[in-house]
Amino acid sequence: MIEYVNSLKNRTDKDFDGFFEGWPNPPSVQKHIKLLENSSYIWLAVDNATGKVIGFINAISDRTLCAYIPLLEVLSEYRGQGVGSKLVQLMLDTLKDYYMIDLICDEKLSDFYSRFNMFESKGMILRNFKMQCGK
Ligand SMILES: CC(C)(COP(=O)(O)OP(=O)(O)OC[C@H]1O[C@@H](n2cnc3c(N)ncnc32)[C@H](O)[C@@H]1OP(=O)(O)O)[C@@H](O)C(=O)NCCC(=O)NCCS
Repeated sequence: MIEYVNSLKNRTDKDFDGFFEGWPNPPSVQKHIKLLENSSYIWLAVDNATGKVIGFINAISDRTLCAYIPLLEVLSEYRGQGVGSKLVQLMLDTLKDYYMIDLICDEKLSDFYSRFNMFESKGMILRNFKMQCGK
């Protein structure tokens, strides 16, 4: 069974494995945990049978008006079962009192996010690829 939790309590390095699929220079597990610790809000999907984290979403916020969702990922073997949708819904519920909730995604994920009443907008981004593994 998949459990959804909004803290890192009882989680260890060993519970995080296999994320940042396809990233050429991914953050280490320690950096992954650090970015979750430093996030304003997180939700984790945990497989109760193994205790492993199999999906996560995070948000950073000014705690007044705006929130940004930088990362969402479900381990490939757990995709297509509604885990990603559940994580998005939990995070949007958590952020329901903010005016501005933004994220950046590939074109192919527009339909996925549209299901949550999100709509396309134009954005500008900057990527410092040599820092992809985190600082
Ligand atoms: C995007 C992601 C989190 C979805 O997780 P998931 O657990 O498979 O999501 P769900 O099972 O709730 O899928 C919901 C729907 O989105 C669709 N979908 C998921 N990933 C998709 C993708 N990469 N391209 C197009 N559609 C996608 C699924 O087909 C599914 O449609 P269905 O309900 O009609 O079958 C997962 O594919 C993932 O981790 N991808 C790699 C990281 C990533 O792209 N993150 C998003 C960053 S913005």
